Amino acid sequence: MFILILTFVPNVFWFSSVLQSWFHSSVGLRSISPPPPPQSEFFSPVEGVMLPKGAFNNRVAFITGGGTGLGRAMTTTLSQLGAQCVIASRKLDVLQQTAEEISSQTGNKVHAVQCDVRDPQAVSRCVDQMESLTGLPDVIINNAAGNFVCPTERLSPNGWKSIVDIVLNGTAFITLELGKRLIQSQKGASFLAITTIYAESGSGFVVPSASAKAGVDALYKSLAAEWGRYGHRFNIIQPGPIKTKGAFSRLDPTGSFEKLMISRMPTGRLGKPGEIANLAAYISSDYASWMSGAVIRFDGGEYVSMAGEFNELHRVTPDQWKMMETMIRSTKGS
Ligand SMILES: *[C@@H]1O[C@H](CO)[C@@H](O)[C@H](O)[C@H]1NC(C)=O
Repeated sequence: MFILILTFVPNVFWFSSVLQSWFHSSVGLRSISPPPPPQSEFFSPVEGVMLPKGAFNNRVAFITGGGTGLGRAMTTTLSQLGAQCVIASRKLDVLQQTAEEISSQTGNKVHAVQCDVRDPQAVSRCVDQMESLTGLPDVIINNAAGNFVCPTERLSPNGWKSIVDIVLNGTAFITLELGKRLIQSQKGASFLAITTIYAESGSGFVVPSASAKAGVDALYKSLAAEWGRYGHRFNIIQPGPIKTKGAFSRLDPTGSFEKLMISRMPTGRLGKPGEIANLAAYISSDYASWMSGAVIRFDGGEYVSMAGEFNELHRVTPDQWKMMETMIRSTKGS
């Protein structure tokens, strides 16, 4: 099985769901999907814009992969807060439609600029175009990504290259091009990279993505140390599964995998686009001007929940605990 999903949305759910919904439906787990955990009521989402009105007035924000999914959500929030946004990806028609929709919603101009982040010359042309439209940006969000699931023994050099080109090369080319020009014009900026929780743990079956995202984390941590002297901040958000419209209807039409995934989230639900958008806006704003080199895991507790070896004990009922206590107490020689 080799499923190619090239997307500019680094939504963990997109690809893990392909693999796992296939797996669960093929082993018949659908019938035992648990109901959503009641604790989700404690963690109800607030998606309204968090920062004060005008927090990004007179600011320019550049968002790669801004046409869809999480990139679109972050662009909408920044635009609502007064930023003039420039969104970039390969698909100009998608970008233009998003730009128009967001502009008419917020009243602030959103520009669409075609850019293939894999190509340094294209990146340079895209930045030329942005400079003439808006000037250099104050906020840069590297959100463009691509991924597919594949057993690594089936991975071809081209499969490896296609993902590393978009994720690692793409982020590096955007960051180098903008960084050099900003330094030249003595302008400070906030750089943000959207990676993934498995940039840290690694993950089987998405090895090029895990490797490239780990590279992006290293790039941004390194530059946080090196380019502070030029007025540049570098931070990283590692999102867990965030629900976006298109992905779920195509990859999990029955909704059965979603329930299974939710059952292992300590917060009992998936993330919402508006939640990561508020975090990204905060990190990119002057309220976070002391934040640099930060790696923020934003996953509803999924990472620690999957990592702790005793965490499955949450399935033990109170009656079973009573029995276990009795057994433990009666164990001799303890
Ligand atoms: C990344 O960019 C370099 C040029 O800097 C290029 O040689 C290489 O083929 C690109 N792709 C990968 C996967 O390294």
